Amino acid sequence: MTLKGKTALITGGSSGIGLASAQAFIAHGARVAITGRDADRLARAGALLGPNALTIQSDVRSMADIENMRETVAREFGHLDIFFANAGAGFSNAIATTDEAKYNALMDVNFKGVYFSVQAALTLMQPGASIILNSSWLNEVGTLGTSLLSASKAAVRSLARTLSAELLPRKIRVNAISPGAIDTPMRKGSGASSPEKLKASRERLEAAIPLGRLGTAEEIAEAVLFLASDSSRYMLGAELVVDGGFAQI
Ligand SMILES: NC(=O)c1ccc[n+]([C@@H]2O[C@H](COP(=O)([O-])OP(=O)(O)OC[C@H]3O[C@@H](n4cnc5c(N)ncnc54)[C@H](OP(=O)(O)O)[C@@H]3O)[C@@H](O)[C@H]2O)c1
Repeated sequence: MTLKGKTALITGGSSGIGLASAQAFIAHGARVAITGRDADRLARAGALLGPNALTIQSDVRSMADIENMRETVAREFGHLDIFFANAGAGFSNAIATTDEAKYNALMDVNFKGVYFSVQAALTLMQPGASIILNSSWLNEVGTLGTSLLSASKAAVRSLARTLSAELLPRKIRVNAISPGAIDTPMRKGSGASSPEKLKASRERLEAAIPLGRLGTAEEIAEAVLFLASDSSRYMLGAELVVDGGFAQI
């Protein structure tokens, strides 16, 4: 799988799955732009990735930031071969205590942010380009406290199908990646969970996952690399579930 000479954009590329994907893309020959909100975290990721990385401070919830991201990529790269819509948020909610602010906090990142960043990226894409959307194993199952998160990820999964249909004349493929429980900074949450609760939650997950452990960001990045490359040229509108068997067995 080579990405030699290709250009890529990854939202939320300063940590976890996005950062591991940027490393994989660069290792396979691409130039990669990554985004995120936190300037320090972006700078650290840029230093780690080296000269083939471009960092753009940008919040996917902001239409102005999305336009700035698009203009920066257009200026620096000229066009885009790969777009990984990865930035996302995750927290649990109970319907009885969910207000509009909480609803917007999740949907604005996980669906609106994906939708409009894809719209922006498309203006820079040519036939043969590949778009990968980060969904989740949660789009397929009904688990406690995930009504917003699972719905947002099901919407993202659906988008891979509908946009693949719409973009067929332009020969641009859209596929979804659905990670299982992956060991990234997101798992540590907003700081609201105590170390004891985090440890208990991890042990519950490890007992429930058929492979007996959480996945790594690198294991997801390898699947994203496949979807980004021409090796997946016969796939469109599809979902690649990489979850240690969690949602399958
Ligand atoms: N970890 C899992 O178990 C798991 C499972 C299934 C799916 N996923 C999905 O995988 C994706 C990446 O998650 P991760 O686990 O790698 O999390 P992570 O390590 O916390 O990374 C999240 C990245 O997104 C950026 N980000 C967050 N909000 C943003 C916003 N509004 N605008 C732009 N960038 C934003 C973060 O940087 P800033 O905070 O600086 O903005 C960071 O670079 C998410 O869509 C998540 O839902 C994760």
